[in-house]
Amino acid sequence: PYIKKIFGLNELEQKLQAKLHISRVIVVAGDVDKDEFVKKEMGRAAAQLLRQYVKENDIVTLTGGSTLFEVANMMPENPQLQSVLFVPARGGIGENHEFLANTLVSVMAKKTGGKYRLLHVPDQLSEESYNSLMNEDNIKEVLKVIRSAGIVIHGIGDAKTMALRRNTSKEILALLEEKKAIGEAFGYYFSQDGEIVYKIKTIGLILEDLEKIPHIIAVAGGKSKADAILAVLKQNYKQILVTDEGAAREILSKI
Ligand code: F6P
Repeated sequence: PYIKKIFGLNELEQKLQAKLHISRVIVVAGDVDKDEFVKKEMGRAAAQLLRQYVKENDIVTLTGGSTLFEVANMMPENPQLQSVLFVPARGGIGENHEFLANTLVSVMAKKTGGKYRLLHVPDQLSEESYNSLMNEDNIKEVLKVIRSAGIVIHGIGDAKTMALRRNTSKEILALLEEKKAIGEAFGYYFSQDGEIVYKIKTIGLILEDLEKIPHIIAVAGGKSKADAILAVLKQNYKQILVTDEGAAREILSKI
């Protein structure tokens, strides 16, 4: 709290909360675009937040990415967390192994002493394999678990960066450009006004499921992600945002 006062981060948090109409914003000092260490600080803040909201026997579902990787690494050992079940929110979506939600749930469970479930779904499914996987009992059961989550914690990415990171086909890259995709979360690509312009075919949480999940925590920072964060927050779910000063100041200058 002391450091936050010096840098005026409390004021920044309050301004953002009011302007974005979301219940809670946490801003850590710095800008992850300039200093990778800031990602660890966002991870620490998000892990602490998770601990505040989590209840006994809760299900926590998460997406992947390098920011969530830091959240997983910062999870505290805590008796309260030993009854928690961690589960990926969506099937594998083109991340490196270490950043996949499937990997991160096992890291979180290991750190906290909790449990985890995996979602064995490959990347970018065809219609046919999607339909047959949806008939698998194991998949159906994991889906049920995901939908009864008490907390979802997810990353947000710049649309183009994410599409390139996922080796997206030329056709889809062109479509994203044409439709002016700005932000990405949960495998959905959004335009500046929050419209869904494309979604990756995979199995797992769909946006509508978020309505029933009590706590939704987004973790994303860096000045370069400001537009992406704004686009995703247009979805109007009761989000909590963990971000950095770089993104926070840029967002404020735009709204
Ligand atoms: O691919 C999973 C994911 O959470 C995306 O939905 C999001 O855009 C991205 O990771 C964020 O990754 P990073 O934290 O590395 O920028």
